Amino acid sequence: KHSPRVFSGVQPTGNLHLGNYLGAISKFVTMQHDYPSIFCVVDLHAVTVPQDPKLLKEQTREIAAAYVAAGIDPAKSIIFAQSTVSAHAELAWILSCQARIGWLNRMTQFKDKAGKDKEKASVGLYTYPVLMAADILAYKATHVPVGEDQKQHLELARDIAAKFNNDMNAEDFFPQPEPLIQGPGTRVMSLKDGTAKMSKSDPSDLSRINLTDDADTIAKKVKKAKSDADVLPSEEEGLEARPEARNLVGIYAALSGVSRADVLSEFGGQGFGALKPRLAELAVEKLAPISEEMRRLQNDRAHLDGILMDGAERADAIAAPILRETKEIMGF
Ligand code: ADP
Ligand code: NA
Repeated sequence: KHSPRVFSGVQPTGNLHLGNYLGAISKFVTMQHDYPSIFCVVDLHAVTVPQDPKLLKEQTREIAAAYVAAGIDPAKSIIFAQSTVSAHAELAWILSCQARIGWLNRMTQFKDKAGKDKEKASVGLYTYPVLMAADILAYKATHVPVGEDQKQHLELARDIAAKFNNDMNAEDFFPQPEPLIQGPGTRVMSLKDGTAKMSKSDPSDLSRINLTDDADTIAKKVKKAKSDADVLPSEEEGLEARPEARNLVGIYAALSGVSRADVLSEFGGQGFGALKPRLAELAVEKLAPISEEMRRLQNDRAHLDGILMDGAERADAIAAPILRETKEIMGF
């Protein structure tokens, strides 16, 4: 009974990388053809850790440029910045009164991001998943394409929606948003260490391929990527105890739009000396047109700001009536 709608977001925190592209943005591009879609630049999430105010807006434009350059059509899909639609923050408060402290205590991302002294982390970093639930439910979104690291947060959003519907006697008011986490690119690992997620915040630039890297940089990073001396197996089971090999094969598969098994049937029996140059070529072929278009778009701030402003209006037109109804249910 809930009509399908896609919502997802990316934080404007710089260093947009191949994991963000394969796990999220490339999925957005294909999904927009199947469902009405909303793609947010989640700047309220970004400030859960300190950000330079002088850079934040520029980084917001950078994500908007990446969305458009990757192929999201701003005339069809909605692209906007989270802080410009007040329903996100307002609904987050209401939902924070539904979410239980015990639920948030189980979130592994907080444990990873808060560092050693958890008492010094911001309250916002702790309640981040509640804001994420609000992002999704503000639009009654039904489908949420994300990388695997967001799975637990999506489960929390589902629990919050269910508790609200149940406790407020509002049967089926919020949908149960479905995570869409499929294919070999949903968990791209660091190039330096196949057991850590490729991430914007890794201090080593060699750990990730950035969307803005030029061809030489991509080639260098792929060449230096950690691998082993063995040949590639011809079956997937052969990758199980070889995280670096599994990662490079997965990246190759995601970039070429095939399965890991297909890659292994091509490269099985050969070493990384065969896979790596082809992988670098493929990454450049996919990313160069995107980064070129990003640079072009980033030179036209007025155009990007226009896209974000138009998107904010269209997003607000959907979220405002849902928020109004939520407040009525609450007795406000
Ligand atoms: P990051 O985790 O790099 O700081 P965000 O939190 O802004 O980036 O995440 C934006 C999207 O990119 C989310 O859907 C997230 O799941 C996805 N994502 C982030 N890192 C990876 C990765 N290494 N592999 C696959 N998807 C990822
Ligand atoms: Na993330």
